[in-house]
Amino acid sequence: QMERTPEPAFPIPAGVFAETVTSVTHYTDSLFSFRISRPQSFRFRSGEFVMIGLPNAEKPVFRAYSIASPSWDEELEFFSIKVPDGPLTEHLQKIAVGDTVLMRKKSTGTLVLDALKPGKRLFLFSTGTGIAPFAGVVRDPETYEKFEQVILTQTCRLEAELTYGRELVATARSDELMSEFIGDKLLFHASATREGETRRHRITTLIETGRLFDELGIPPLDPTDDRAMICGSMAMLKDTEKLLDARGFVEGANSRPDTYVVERAFVD
Ligand code: A2P
Repeated sequence: QMERTPEPAFPIPAGVFAETVTSVTHYTDSLFSFRISRPQSFRFRSGEFVMIGLPNAEKPVFRAYSIASPSWDEELEFFSIKVPDGPLTEHLQKIAVGDTVLMRKKSTGTLVLDALKPGKRLFLFSTGTGIAPFAGVVRDPETYEKFEQVILTQTCRLEAELTYGRELVATARSDELMSEFIGDKLLFHASATREGETRRHRITTLIETGRLFDELGIPPLDPTDDRAMICGSMAMLKDTEKLLDARGFVEGANSRPDTYVVERAFVD
């Protein structure tokens, strides 16, 4: 039994939820996921983010976190990096079951079905923890009511960093309830760029060369019926947007749905 420092008793700031950690899973030295209880009154759309903090200071540090749960989940799931000196993640990575996590009351974001025009295929392009919002979107039945096929991609540096996404997809496909609406509509393409035998390419290269479509056995991108969401580092967003723009896609927003959407809330 490890000795735990008792949490200092700082008051919970006004207007935030104080929720309880229900599970924590560590994937690598730099990646972990956790689940917290869901406030009864909290509603969100799959793909949105919330501000998360810890009750460890008079004025806690809050950071934007994508909700990795679908909107029907009884708990709330998050997928996080561990930044060694990150003002929030240096503490957050040490959380354990039973600890308290603070959450602001309003969710928001552009990686939502509402910000896209109707279409047939939905591409979800992610690198690293950018897969988090899509973990909600691919587990939402509404996604499959609106799209005939959903193509999730994740690129990471290392193989072990793909575990969260691989388990997510495997579980969703085999789950009794989710497999009902997912059927064979969900495709997943995972690639590690800095190790491993398979597919060592960035998503941008995979799109440009057409390898992504060849490997999945599907037609290339076409703005007529394809829609896309992008989530990753600033560099990845920029480069992927360029490719979509060149193919005739147009960036949309909640107020102005179009053929692709990007989330910039997590970037620098
Ligand atoms: P690479 O290994 O070739 O740099 P990071 O940790 O730097 O955000 O990278 C996460 C993943 O995103 C890595 O696989 C990385 O590939 C890839 N990546 C980094 N920059 C870009 C970019 N501009 N376009 C597409 N993929 C990128």
